[in-house]
Amino acid sequence: MINDLWYKNAVIYCLSVGTFMDANGDGIGDFQGLVRRLDYLHGLGITAIWLMPFQPSPCRDDGYDISDYYGVNARHGTLGDFVEFTHGAEQRGIRVIMDLVVNHTSDRHPWFQEARRDPKSPYRDWYVWSDKKPPHANTGMVFPGVQKSTWSYDKIARAWYFHRFYDFQPDLNTSNPYVQAEILKIMGFWIQLGVVGFRMDAVPFVISTKGPRVKNPVEQYDMLRSLREFLQWREGAAIILAEANVLPECDMEYFGADGDRLHMMFNFQVNQHLFYALAASDCRSLVQALKATKPRPATAQWGLFLRNHDELDLGRLTEEQRQRVFECFGPEKEMQLYDRGIRRRLAPMLNGDRRRIELAYSLMFTLPGTPVVRYGDEIGMGDDLKLPERNCARTPMQWSTEPHAGFTKARRPILPVISDGPYGYQHVNAAKQRRDPNSLLNWTERIIRMRKEVPEVGWGDFEVLSTRNPAVLAIRYDWRNNSVLFVHNLDAIPREVAFSTGLRGKESRLLVNLLTDDHSRAREDGKHHLLLEAYGYRWYRVGGLDYLLKRAEIETPEAR
Ligand code: GLC
Ligand code: CA
Repeated sequence: MINDLWYKNAVIYCLSVGTFMDANGDGIGDFQGLVRRLDYLHGLGITAIWLMPFQPSPCRDDGYDISDYYGVNARHGTLGDFVEFTHGAEQRGIRVIMDLVVNHTSDRHPWFQEARRDPKSPYRDWYVWSDKKPPHANTGMVFPGVQKSTWSYDKIARAWYFHRFYDFQPDLNTSNPYVQAEILKIMGFWIQLGVVGFRMDAVPFVISTKGPRVKNPVEQYDMLRSLREFLQWREGAAIILAEANVLPECDMEYFGADGDRLHMMFNFQVNQHLFYALAASDCRSLVQALKATKPRPATAQWGLFLRNHDELDLGRLTEEQRQRVFECFGPEKEMQLYDRGIRRRLAPMLNGDRRRIELAYSLMFTLPGTPVVRYGDEIGMGDDLKLPERNCARTPMQWSTEPHAGFTKARRPILPVISDGPYGYQHVNAAKQRRDPNSLLNWTERIIRMRKEVPEVGWGDFEVLSTRNPAVLAIRYDWRNNSVLFVHNLDAIPREVAFSTGLRGKESRLLVNLLTDDHSRAREDGKHHLLLEAYGYRWYRVGGLDYLLKRAEIETPEAR
């Protein structure tokens, strides 16, 4: 089981083919370029790639507006190049998951074109229509400030259509069984071409009831089980990783009480409270978020992230908490987006402070779940706030000091490479960091390697230990007769803490540091006393390094 459920203890790397590497010199990243960089990813030690949308698309929402589900956008290559890529990844033991964007299509999709032109076409019912403007047309926008409504009039159809996102992304009528069958067909197609799963876009909207009379949409959770079943029949190792920013009380509906629905979900709850904890040097609300999201089936897993390709959505924090995060990480209006979030990259948010970047990453790698790294964050890339909306954090990967950071030989890349200021490619690039043993890139590589060697995090149960100090988080994981323990000081000043491991027995008197020589022995009082430097962190194994000799083959009560 431990080998089959690969996602329980994986490191996922999220990238967009268009901004990773341009092999044919037209300024746009492509699959041939990505194949040339597979050894870089392999060296970094990641176990899976999450590939952002690459299918044919007018690209008005970075490819999240698909006009053909069964192809590759010509600007990124051909289906042939795609299979070269999945094959190359497989050879290096890297799994590939891709975005599955089926809440909506592009308005250029032939299905929508036919649906709007012919009310009798079977495709008419693939979308969501209304003869009159529905009463709640001006509510429920996902991009407030940019998107004006969720219903727009289509002159050709002479009707209003529903769009949860931008008006060029008409929602599919996902309750229609033909649409459902098509979604399975799309999954089956890409599975056949070598992907082992999907990052499913906007899941709560996909499964919600839609229509002009739907005032309060209801989630049809059963749909999730049929998606999973189909996938598992086709390919046992395949998974669905859901983008679902929902409240913790709904989590089990998404995972399924028996683990029969989605394998993974991004933990938006922990993400927001993690940033609050970093901003306020106070981990109490983060601990609450960890506890609230603790219940999950044994086969399910959280995807943990710091930043992704969207804004850092702070919508679930209290007003006061949100203002605190804004103040600390995005004080200027131009850094904020959609009235609820921050659009910057990680490094500039943390002022480029190496200690804080390591702290943030160390937390992400040791909180319960599977970490998801965003391309470029491993070298501390910055953002370009001159670019509109979320594009500021989607600039090309910075490989070297060569023109356009070695991303392309073209005169104009698809998005400008960051080329001035402290985050310019002259300073921040992979080649330079390779040569420096103390670079962030080499640190990330080491931390990924160590993270893979502590499967207790991915598989085990966790317990938050009391440190009597809100700025210091201590967590212990137990799994198959072994325990690991992590301590983080979120404060800008050194902190002294004392804590007990919560384990009985003499083993817990020794904590072996996995990253430095600084081990800890319990004092007379049975507690560990640590002096943590500002933003300091510790990774420990409890007892000793004979954990592989101690590991039990099964999960038994004694093996705790
Ligand atoms: C998801 C994506 C976002 C996209 C939206 C519409 O939220 O993360 O980038 O704009 O879906 O597809
Ligand atoms: Ca190209």
